[in-house]
Amino acid sequence: MRLDKYLCSATELTRSLAKKLLHRGEVTCDGEVIKDPGFKVAEHHVICIDGEPVTPMGERYLMLHKPDNCVSSHVDDGHPSVLIYIDQPRREELKIVGRLDADTTGLLLLTSDGKWSHRITSPNSRCPKRYRVTLADPIDQHQLDALNSGVLLHGESEPVSGQAEQIDSHSLWLTIGEGKYHQVKRMCAAVGNKVVDLHRHSIGELTLDSGLAPGEWRALTQEEIALF
Ligand code: URA
Repeated sequence: MRLDKYLCSATELTRSLAKKLLHRGEVTCDGEVIKDPGFKVAEHHVICIDGEPVTPMGERYLMLHKPDNCVSSHVDDGHPSVLIYIDQPRREELKIVGRLDADTTGLLLLTSDGKWSHRITSPNSRCPKRYRVTLADPIDQHQLDALNSGVLLHGESEPVSGQAEQIDSHSLWLTIGEGKYHQVKRMCAAVGNKVVDLHRHSIGELTLDSGLAPGEWRALTQEEIALF
């Protein structure tokens, strides 16, 4: 990696500030002052700024319990961005893995690793997302059957189906493989009901920690990262 890029990924410096530090001779590689921003940093090099070693921030993988009333985008859009809950430096560099509506709660993943994010969100991966859905009207067998066998969403040409399992009179588990816009709400509308509460419980084999309160996050473990 180029030295100026290395410095930016290890600190909160912009590329132009990193170049200034280099120009002033404040950066060393294995004890030797380096002024060339294009210097290639190797794995074994020890880079210091003013004698203090710096190492680049590695890839980051987080799960957030998304609360109600925030948007899964970087831009505040009438509601604050979910990023306000990530009390980490350079949080704006994190990608939000898929979207939940502002009023949907539950498991949301964030990462700096674009390939990992793509493996989860790519339509070809059909990564299952499991939601706990609460409906305005009692659920009947006809609605469950339709959700399981396939419903045509408004504006779509192919039907979509899920795995629906009733929990009680007004709630069900619904697992879907795609991630179409407002998919769960539109599927429930297509069978004549209305979603009043939506909570994402899991993505693939990764389940939201029961110990994480809304607005709390934690780093994923290596085993969890390797699930995708
Ligand atoms: N389906 C929806 O309708 N909304 C969400 O937030 C997620 C899935």
